[in-house]
Amino acid sequence: MVFRITGIGAMSAMALPLALPPVRMLLQEERGVSFQVGPAFYRRQSSLARDLGILVAAVHRQQTGNLRVVDVMSGCGVRAVRYLLQARADFVWANDACNQLTELLALNLSQGQSLNSGAEEEKFEHWRITREDAHKVLLDCALRKEYYDLIDVDSFGSDTLCVGPAIGAVKYGGLVYLTSTDGFCAGGRRRHNALSSYGAFVNPMPFANEIGLRMLIGCAVREAATRNMSVIPVFSNYSYHGPVFRTMLRVESRRKLVNKDYGFIVYCKQCGQSQDIQFEGLGDIACCCKHPKEKGSLVVTGPLWIGPLHDRKQVEGMTEVARDWGWITRSTSESPVDMHILEELLEVMVNESEPGLPSGYIKMDEIGKRGKVRVPRRKDFIDRLQQEGYVASRSHVERRAVKTNCPMDKCIELVRSMEIITASRSILDSPQHADPGSRTNGVMVG
Ligand SMILES: C[S@@+](CC[C@H](N)C(=O)[O-])C[C@H]1O[C@@H](n2cnc3c(N)ncnc32)[C@H](O)[C@@H]1O
Ligand SMILES: [Zn+2]
Repeated sequence: MVFRITGIGAMSAMALPLALPPVRMLLQEERGVSFQVGPAFYRRQSSLARDLGILVAAVHRQQTGNLRVVDVMSGCGVRAVRYLLQARADFVWANDACNQLTELLALNLSQGQSLNSGAEEEKFEHWRITREDAHKVLLDCALRKEYYDLIDVDSFGSDTLCVGPAIGAVKYGGLVYLTSTDGFCAGGRRRHNALSSYGAFVNPMPFANEIGLRMLIGCAVREAATRNMSVIPVFSNYSYHGPVFRTMLRVESRRKLVNKDYGFIVYCKQCGQSQDIQFEGLGDIACCCKHPKEKGSLVVTGPLWIGPLHDRKQVEGMTEVARDWGWITRSTSESPVDMHILEELLEVMVNESEPGLPSGYIKMDEIGKRGKVRVPRRKDFIDRLQQEGYVASRSHVERRAVKTNCPMDKCIELVRSMEIITASRSILDSPQHADPGSRTNGVMVG
């Protein structure tokens, strides 16, 4: 039985408790959309991740003409409202198992009503609220063969129970937005948790936060494969608060698991070099460095996603939409800080999509420590790597790091050569080497 609030919204019977508790109101705003937070779990810092989700949703709607969304762990419904109002979703289903949020969700989603006020439009349901277990919502959709364009699963910890059902309830070509907040798994400190939740054995590696993204994507790759489907990241995003690992995946129909992008990362503790290894290469693991080989010096993590973290074309599409909407240019209604952060993040994502970049990153400090050299500015080092013919980029995960296919030993060599050039430049610029004419004038610049 479904209760209609208006011609364009609905709540399931289960979502209507007899006496709703009063909602403690707390008004928030994200990019011009206001909503109440009430007793829901809400993090202001996650608004950037919501921006990314809304931008992809808008690009999807532009490309396909459709946008039907299920937000199975809605909280206060901020995402649902933003999918509705900003990405112009045709339909949004907001679900949360918590019985204190139903009234709040209805209040927030009812903002969507003013959008579609035409008589013809009123025949259609534009939003729905339920209070079910997320797992059940998704399985029911798949059983009814009711497939959606975007499924948003904003779960806590290393709960991956909904990953498979979300893939099973999305259209071919549709999107699944996943979250993990288990930094311990990513850091190799809860190995059996990582194995049971993500199907990956994780050893501690210096780029743990990128591992966090890759094990989440890897989990989805496996779940998709069991359903004769495949997934590919549209974007991946690590946030230090939490920490939170998020990925937006495009789901396609495909029979075989392509294992080029699903494999292992090997890390050599002796030289600091990492390499991506496919299943076929497992028997031949070795590091080509000159350092003495010791037992336990090579560690392996996987299987996980070892392909690109983002789809460059899609991120460029998101950037275009963000620019059209004034989200990444200065305007009086928005905080310039928010704009700058989003713009930089999208730029780095495009850089990180460069073909040929392996998994992981090298921290500038590690180059300095291992080579006992003074490290240059990250930007200068990236320029130098590119001049030498290597692929190199910033990392959105770690500011003081580079992503490159240049081996660690060679990185140290290059930094050393840059140190020599900088040192000889500063000798030439020193007062002893200054123009003799300036000395006669008695001007010595220190
Ligand atoms: C991280 S919060 C959601 C935050 C929200 N998406 C946002 O962006 O602000 C997770 C929500 O999932 C709900 N939840 C947890 N387990 C659930 C389950 N099995 N089924 C449905 N909802 C669940 C919680 O009540 C909580 O509101
Ligand atoms: Zn090595």
